[in-house]
Amino acid sequence: MTVTRPSDLPACGIDQRRVVPAANTGPSRETLALNGGLVIDPATKAIAPNISMSVNNVFIPGGGPFSADGVDDLTALPFLYARWTNPTVRQLEQRLAALEGADDAMATATGVAAIGATFFTFLKKGDHLILSDVCYAGANELARRILPDYGIEVTPVNMSRPEDVAAAFRSNTRLVHCESPCNPILRLTDLAAIAELARKHGALMSVDSTLATPVATQPLLLGVDLVIHSLTKFINGHGDALGGVVCGRKELVEKIRSRAGVYLGASMPAMNAWLIMRGIDTLFPRIRMISESAAKIAAFLQGHSAVEAVTYPGLASHPQHDLAKHQMDVFGGIVTFRVKNPGQVARQLAERLKVAHYTFSLGHQRSIVVLLDTQEMMKSTYQLTGKQLEDYRRFAGDGVFRLSVGLEATDDLLVDLDQAISD
Ligand SMILES: Cc1ncc(COP(=O)(O)O)c(C=O)c1O
Repeated sequence: MTVTRPSDLPACGIDQRRVVPAANTGPSRETLALNGGLVIDPATKAIAPNISMSVNNVFIPGGGPFSADGVDDLTALPFLYARWTNPTVRQLEQRLAALEGADDAMATATGVAAIGATFFTFLKKGDHLILSDVCYAGANELARRILPDYGIEVTPVNMSRPEDVAAAFRSNTRLVHCESPCNPILRLTDLAAIAELARKHGALMSVDSTLATPVATQPLLLGVDLVIHSLTKFINGHGDALGGVVCGRKELVEKIRSRAGVYLGASMPAMNAWLIMRGIDTLFPRIRMISESAAKIAAFLQGHSAVEAVTYPGLASHPQHDLAKHQMDVFGGIVTFRVKNPGQVARQLAERLKVAHYTFSLGHQRSIVVLLDTQEMMKSTYQLTGKQLEDYRRFAGDGVFRLSVGLEATDDLLVDLDQAISD
């Protein structure tokens, strides 16, 4: 048997009326969030997706040419082994591709696996990566600590300065990776401008769009090559399943699947795909409600005597508010704020909060807040100096509280935050 991966995954028996490969050419994305990739069970006609837990599926007679040792054309057997993909995971992949206006998508076990899959597929020894100097800590640490061990050069750049990005390109630059808004300081990247630069230099551009979600931004329409999400966050939205995805052109996703899925084993379990699809069913109303609540909370915090500064892309005071209006349909669920005495307020929040929760992570149905101390973040992760450190401090000062707004009543959150941050 020739052990190749399936290069042309079928639509897994999909009802084609439900699939719209490119955004804005058919049903609205609200409808695609429910029906994109959905397979009506042929036996029972059930309209909820089936969970297919099987690791392998039998060879289909007539499904591909059989040789002495089995089939040698695995393209006809996409569900032969679940590490490549699985019928439930495939439905999720198609739904996410439809939401992002992508040809295809590969779901991964976690968001970090999606980032790692992208790096290890498109970068090899001697290549150069331009990385957002502030992005999810795990991505930053993977790029800066691990990639150099494989002979890959990494240049961290403030992606909100296109001139700095332009200056960072080298003849061996193969990938530009950024986030918008970036975690944790909510600085934006002008995706169209950076994608244009990447194209000019013959490099690919990937964006981790976890904080924006497809409700706010569709990076592929702005010229970005690959969109990554931690599905663990807003897209699942219920804090009960890990997952990640990379969406993009067919040939790019195929390459990721063949390397990261088949050889790095980054694939997603079927149960998680099912849970995440159920989360996506309500993605649009959830994100709209969360964004509305976040805007009210940001305005409230801005007027609070204990708060020194608030960052939220929807606030007129955000230094890139014009870009946010241009690039985001809603402004998302993350608000950051600064106080005079962060250590003490962190303790107060942990002790006093009754509605929100004091802990890491974000994008769940329950509100979560945590302090990210600047010195600590520099030591553990970003290691910025000079102008880059100044730029970070402009957004974060000595530290920010990152509040991920959930689905609780806004007034309850306001009362809860008020009693927790006040003296
Ligand atoms: C922006 C962003 N990308 C990726 C990740 C990693 O996701 P996961 O925890 O699913 O690996 C996170 C996690 O916090 C994140 O915030």
